[in-house]
Amino acid sequence: MAAVLLSYIFGASAVTAQYVPLPWAYTQNESVVRVSVNAGVQYQTMIGGGCSGAFGVACDQTGAHGLSPTNQQLVSNYLFDENLGGLSILRNRIGSSPTDGILGSCPSTPSSTLNFTSLGANDSTADSCQLKLTQQALLANPDLFIYADAWSAPGCFKTDETDINGGLICGVRGSNCTEDWRQAYADYLVQYVKLYEEKGINVSLLGAYNEPDFNPVTYASMESDGFQAKDFLEILYPTVKKYRNDLEVSCCDATGARQERSILYELEQAGGGALYDVATWHNYQSNPERAFNSQGQPNMQTEYADGSGPWNTTWDTTGQLAEGLQWAMYM
Ligand SMILES: *[C@@H]1O[C@H](CO)[C@@H](O)[C@H](O)[C@H]1NC(C)=O
Ligand SMILES: *[C@@H]1O[C@H](CO)[C@@H](O)[C@H](O)[C@H]1NC(C)=O
Ligand SMILES: *[C@@H]1O[C@H](CO)[C@@H](O)[C@H](O)[C@H]1NC(C)=O
Ligand SMILES: *[C@@H]1O[C@H](CO)[C@@H](O)[C@H](O)[C@H]1NC(C)=O
Ligand SMILES: *[C@@H]1O[C@H](CO)[C@@H](O)[C@H](O)[C@H]1NC(C)=O
Ligand SMILES: *[C@@H]1O[C@H](CO)[C@@H](O)[C@H](O)[C@H]1NC(C)=O
Repeated sequence: MAAVLLSYIFGASAVTAQYVPLPWAYTQNESVVRVSVNAGVQYQTMIGGGCSGAFGVACDQTGAHGLSPTNQQLVSNYLFDENLGGLSILRNRIGSSPTDGILGSCPSTPSSTLNFTSLGANDSTADSCQLKLTQQALLANPDLFIYADAWSAPGCFKTDETDINGGLICGVRGSNCTEDWRQAYADYLVQYVKLYEEKGINVSLLGAYNEPDFNPVTYASMESDGFQAKDFLEILYPTVKKYRNDLEVSCCDATGARQERSILYELEQAGGGALYDVATWHNYQSNPERAFNSQGQPNMQTEYADGSGPWNTTWDTTGQLAEGLQWAMYM
């Protein structure tokens, strides 16, 4: 390929040189290689691979732009059937605003009964269409691992009194609210899982954070370092286990592997190293490079994009980050 490419570039005018992919053929001269795989040998346990329909994307999949019901399920089959797309994890966002969350009104004190709503009156659109997407995905893959993750607590549980713009959960160190809303936020997260249980769906993993090292940002967001995470997880973890012992808890979806490592280090320093079951991290700001500093808990990369632009359909045409071959190499 290199020789073909070079001769093409030299042959083109120096001013308008632009690479246009050439059709090519490959004759395999070597004899066929026989590969035998012993499926009994395990090197590493993988939780799986997945996607998310957060921030309204699930509605594209459930007909917001006219996709027919038959094709909605077909697309979900392409993604989640183990013999097709093979995705086995769905990350759902737990809404935190008055319009996409499940808190009908702000309680007057932390000891007031919380006024929870349903996921939505219409199952086709409930929970920003994530319920329907989850149901479709479960039809395609009954072993689906469902990660329910919040970007923020509801505003009235936070220092900045809104679910956007960062802020802290009232009650963690460094927050100075008159009330401690940590238990209310833990109950809020578990209530979301219960609403799915009422629909016959078990969430597998529950998270309270999204990129708590990066905030404030203008969408739903909340800050936390590892010490503050300890102050909340020491409430959330027992609350979750009391509800359902096999429901796992994540920490903390940091923007990068190094950033996640810092949170885990602080969490452990604060005595909270056992207060989560899966270390969750994003790959934007730094790569993993070495093992995570967990106490043996597995880790899961829960978000990544290369930042080079929109979805790209080419496999190996320009050598750019967005292409399929590069993504195959990441995996
Ligand atoms: C295969 O063999 C043919 C004929 O000898 C040769 O022209 C061609 O370059 C070889 N291809 C590769 C990939 O080695
Ligand atoms: C609970 O929330 C709903 C929806 O926002 C509201 O209509 C209702 O008045 C609230 N109930 C109480 C007791 O605050
Ligand atoms: C539920 O929402 C779907 C999709 O928007 C719509 O087609 C359907 O009519 C709604 N059902 C009810 C009972 O409102
Ligand atoms: C804590 O309260 C003081 C005094 O009201 C205020 O100046 C400060 O910004 C508050 N800090 C936080 C983190 O809310
Ligand atoms: C949900 O989990 C509980 C506890 O492990 C189990 O008893 C129940 O059968 C599960 N429900 C579904 C729908 O998988
Ligand atoms: C794919 O990415 C390459 C490199 O950035 C770009 O030239 C090309 O236009 C993109 N194609 C599509 C379909 O987005």
